[in-house]
Amino acid sequence: MNASELMAVLGPRLSKTKLIVVANREPYIHVRRPQAPRRGLLSWFGNRRKASGVAWQRPASGLVTALDPVMRACGGTWIAHGSGNGDRDVVDEKGRVAVPPDKPLYTLRRVWLTPEEEEGYYYGLSNNALWPLCHIAYARPEFDERDWNQYKRVNERFADTVIDEIGDARAIVFVQDYHFALLPRLVKQARPDTIVCQFWHIPWPNAEAFRICPWGEEVLDGLLGNDLLGFHIQYHCNNFFDTVDAGLEARIDREHFAVIRRGHRTYVKPFPISIDPEPWGRLPKNTTREADVRRTRQRLGLGNERLVFGVDRLDYTKGIPERIKAFERMLEQHPAWRGRVTMLQVGAPSREHLQRYQSISDDVDGAVRMINERHGTEAWTPVIYSRQHHGPEDVASLYRAADVCVVSSLHDGMNLVAKEFIASRPDLRGVLVLSRFTGAARDLREALDVNPFAVDEFACVLHKALSMPDPEQERRMRALRARVEEHTIYDWAAAVIQAAWRMSEAAA
Ligand code: F6P
Repeated sequence: MNASELMAVLGPRLSKTKLIVVANREPYIHVRRPQAPRRGLLSWFGNRRKASGVAWQRPASGLVTALDPVMRACGGTWIAHGSGNGDRDVVDEKGRVAVPPDKPLYTLRRVWLTPEEEEGYYYGLSNNALWPLCHIAYARPEFDERDWNQYKRVNERFADTVIDEIGDARAIVFVQDYHFALLPRLVKQARPDTIVCQFWHIPWPNAEAFRICPWGEEVLDGLLGNDLLGFHIQYHCNNFFDTVDAGLEARIDREHFAVIRRGHRTYVKPFPISIDPEPWGRLPKNTTREADVRRTRQRLGLGNERLVFGVDRLDYTKGIPERIKAFERMLEQHPAWRGRVTMLQVGAPSREHLQRYQSISDDVDGAVRMINERHGTEAWTPVIYSRQHHGPEDVASLYRAADVCVVSSLHDGMNLVAKEFIASRPDLRGVLVLSRFTGAARDLREALDVNPFAVDEFACVLHKALSMPDPEQERRMRALRARVEEHTIYDWAAAVIQAAWRMSEAAA
């Protein structure tokens, strides 16, 4: 499905129902004083455009990549935390601004948070407690009562904004992610006539792991205010049912995939998220694929070396040090690759305020330094590392130039990098190495499966990827592309929103 097909499906109902998306991250961030672009190897990468003295940029966020095209197609309002230092300069008195800034198609309504609220709700409870709790990537969740209080407060503030935004309208409120576990109940209580659905973009852990959350009951109760709750895969839905079963007074109707609590029914279903493949398959104007790849390789200073590519937020769940270690092990086990392959790792700084994220950034710096010191020569740098956020056009050029793309998350709800790489390769070349602990691995069976914790196995898989003959690359890539094309972000949005409509009607 493409954008116009989505509108054909949802348009008639959306003309009578207001679509309100709630997500912590805003799709466009306004900044007052943009830094000058960095000089150096990758200096042509940038993502800033200037508009009337204030520049805007797109955040490094899979959620934004997924939902912005849906909002462009459907219209409506996206309510988010206004986090840019130029955000207040461009909004009306309610915090609203039309976006995309260069071609307005929907409304962004910003909610202003105090530094204490941001600290407690976003850094503290969301990213230092719920994030590690749900990912189970061997990082201990930190539970702090003060963070929980800020989380509750910010959920209430966003709920008030949603209720104000609904006004007298009929509305469907589509809540995103783990930042807003309490909001659905608050909105549903205030406006029972509103359809409330939520998509949880990260894994849901097993009941045993979730038990340690001191406010588990409140989190579950808040989520059960939804009419529909979506996860990427059935496995996470099953974990959720087990968690409710173990921790709450509620009836589970497994036959209809629902939980009934205090007379209210919440359907719990899998909706694997995807991307809009079309822009990823498009070449920049006035160039050919070959010329574009040549230019990218020149910029990277590559000669005839093969290119192994990874692009991630700098997050300890993404398995970046594991990837570098496996690459090094491969060079040791297959010395013939020395001088003949280079790894490019792009790492977008993320949640830098948190100690754990500073550590992962230091770990990646250290791992890159070590491998280059140990194996580099005057003529060859084994790993090139760009520690900055790159816009989608730049990333697309790198996908096109890559021989191998590596996604080695230790645990990931879906992972959209895998799908973007596939969508960027209509030439049917390139090999995807994909962690079996991503939601994407359930669908993308023709990728080379890897356990990122097993360094020797990982090294073998990298060697296999680099040695794969063209016909096999072609066969695998053709099958992968068919999957990404047959289930796009528009299919995902249509499925969630139509299911929410159907289910709230059935419950009425
Ligand atoms: O993967 C979960 C998620 O919330 C995504 O949905 C989002 O793209 C990413 O993390 C980015 O996180 P943040 O908004 O904290 O930078």
